[in-house]
Amino acid sequence: TSVAGVDLYQLMEQVNEFYQTQLRQHKDRDQAVSYLKARGLSGDIAKRFGLGFAPEGWDNLMSQLGSTVSTQKALLDTGMLTENEKKRVYDRFRHRIMFPIHDHRGRIVGFGGRVLESENPQPGNPKYLNSPETPIFHKGSELYGLYAARGGIKDADGVLVVEGYMDVVALAQAGINNAVATLGTATTPMHLQRLFRHTPNITFCFDGDRAGREAAWKALETSLSALQDGFQVSFLFLPDGEDPDTMVKKIGKDAFQALITDAKPLPDFLIENLQTQADVNRLDGRAKLSKLARPLIDKLPNGVLKKLILDRLASITQVSVQDLASQETMNEAEPA
Ligand code: UTP
Ligand code: MN
Ligand code: MN
Ligand code: MN
Ligand code: MN
Repeated sequence: TSVAGVDLYQLMEQVNEFYQTQLRQHKDRDQAVSYLKARGLSGDIAKRFGLGFAPEGWDNLMSQLGSTVSTQKALLDTGMLTENEKKRVYDRFRHRIMFPIHDHRGRIVGFGGRVLESENPQPGNPKYLNSPETPIFHKGSELYGLYAARGGIKDADGVLVVEGYMDVVALAQAGINNAVATLGTATTPMHLQRLFRHTPNITFCFDGDRAGREAAWKALETSLSALQDGFQVSFLFLPDGEDPDTMVKKIGKDAFQALITDAKPLPDFLIENLQTQADVNRLDGRAKLSKLARPLIDKLPNGVLKKLILDRLASITQVSVQDLASQETMNEAEPA
């Protein structure tokens, strides 16, 4: 993939090299280094994840790599440079810790950048800024940390899906090397497809806040269609106010791993969640539950799991299995 004769992947390598060099050499590097230290990260981990530093200023990257018409054009296409209405071109990422994002072949396709201040400073300057969609970067299919976690996923025979860059890096710092993060988007079918190529076991661990709990339910809905028999999806719910980063710091590696082991299986989450929405002691509550269940059940591929969930729901609602799933579904699920 090249623009004006410039290979975008090679260019992204140079960009990454530039940010890493700034973290080692820039006159303001102390700020960035102390920030990383304050978050409990070692130099080794920073190196392993290729963390870098985008210094303050509008044209650091621009003057380093964007000096020719063709490289400037290519940098605009990768989203590393951006332009205003007056066509003035400038660095997209300024005064941020930089997290390179690798695709499944290990090529750098984008970046996430975090402000150095500990909390959101001003509107218009979000805490995290990600690369936009580009010819080489598609948020809906990439997962942060997947390339680095391949071995860890194999060893653990499972993958942990978290929300943030810092969660992935902090878990690795604690010795948990099978975490990946969605890139500020919901989990997509493509993400699941990618992950199931590496392992049949996925555990979602989103933040212990409202957004995290909503993301978990969305992830459940998306997972249903991918749940062929043999695949297992679980959910680890953190206490309010915690995310994987703060949690692993608080309780340590072994206790965190025990939480992963005890994560709630998808079928349990599904049924428990439905039960909180309807009172099964009432006939109309049981009808409501079966109505809520039907579109979810219909997403599951036909197989034993689907049959087991249907049986369970039937016993809870005392509604016949036939009435719980769509007619077409049942015809496929249980040939007469
Ligand atoms: P969070 O809002 O939970 O990040 O968003 P955080 O845990 O507070 O961040 P730290 O720990 O202070 O660094 C989780 C993830 O959602 C994406 C980022 O990937 C982030 O890591 N996000 C969040 C964005 O893309 N943009 C935002 O403005 C906020
Ligand atoms: Mn937050
Ligand atoms: Mn959060
Ligand atoms: Mn956090
Ligand atoms: Mn968080």
